[in-house]
Amino acid sequence: MTGPILSLRGITKSYGQGNALDRLLGRDTRFVALDGVSLEIARGDVVGIVGESGSGKSTLASIAVGLTKPTSGEVLLDGEPLSALMRDHGGPWRRRIQMAFQDSSSALNPRKSVSRCLTETLALRGVPKAEREAEALAMLTLVGLGAELAPRLPHELSGGQRQRVGLARALAMKPDILIADEPVSSLDVSLQAQVINLLSRLTRELGLTLLFISHDLALVRTLCSRIIVMRKGAIVEQGPCLDVLDHPTHTYTQLLIAAVPKGIKGRRQHAAAAQIASPISTARESAG
Ligand SMILES: Nc1ncnc2c1ncn2[C@@H]1O[C@H](COP(=O)(O)OP(=O)(O)OP(=O)(O)O)[C@@H](O)[C@H]1O
Ligand SMILES: [Mg+2]
Repeated sequence: MTGPILSLRGITKSYGQGNALDRLLGRDTRFVALDGVSLEIARGDVVGIVGESGSGKSTLASIAVGLTKPTSGEVLLDGEPLSALMRDHGGPWRRRIQMAFQDSSSALNPRKSVSRCLTETLALRGVPKAEREAEALAMLTLVGLGAELAPRLPHELSGGQRQRVGLARALAMKPDILIADEPVSSLDVSLQAQVINLLSRLTRELGLTLLFISHDLALVRTLCSRIIVMRKGAIVEQGPCLDVLDHPTHTYTQLLIAAVPKGIKGRRQHAAAAQIASPISTARESAG
């Protein structure tokens, strides 16, 4: 199919109605988290979304997967309004667009073991019962987790492990579009490289369309072909990743780039990027 796989048209999201007095006095106390965001994502695009904390990245992601209802505007999946697709609860669109959440502690059901979380997801995808357990273990291996974690509950995992279970669950659906919200932020450099390599491979080999939300410009540079820069609920700049990062035209993008710490963190980031570029580092992930 031609045309964008995902389009957002004039998405606005405001929170809060104010208290009774505000309403009585007609005071507008709403907080605008997204202010008319429009974008188009082509099939197979790998798009980095960056911007300061609170700029609306996670809100945008949540609206794109249909978890948050926009105040106004429309999301289109392959040209079809998500609002219409959503009436079909178990419809195929559910599988096609998946999200790996930034806050993995609230994204996983606290009463379900890792194994159950994954096998239930595989059941939704229609994987036969006899194959689910083995495939769940394969998914864990894919994100660099051992089989010993399978019986554990989310609170028995570290933050980084939970984050990867969330990613494994999203990938278990074999989505066409994955929105990964800070998927590697709580991982050490070598694990970051491993997960980024995995995502990079999935985009190359399976044509996965990826929206990668991150504060880490070095990782975005390594992984993404396009970049979207957000500030205060709006897109301030977008374009080919290297063009924008090397020649930012908007002052805010320039500030964002200038703010990347040059000290220890800078070296860590470069170490991660170097590992990602190196074919040797794919050896560990290719076990999956
Ligand atoms: N349920 C909510 N009620 C009220 N305000 C909200 C709600 N969810 C988000 N916000 C506000 O909307 C703005 C955008 O939040 P969002 O989580 O999208 O930012 P973000 O860009 O993902 O930030 P970060 O980089 O810190 O994850 C923030 O100011 C946040 O406080
Ligand atoms: Mg966020």
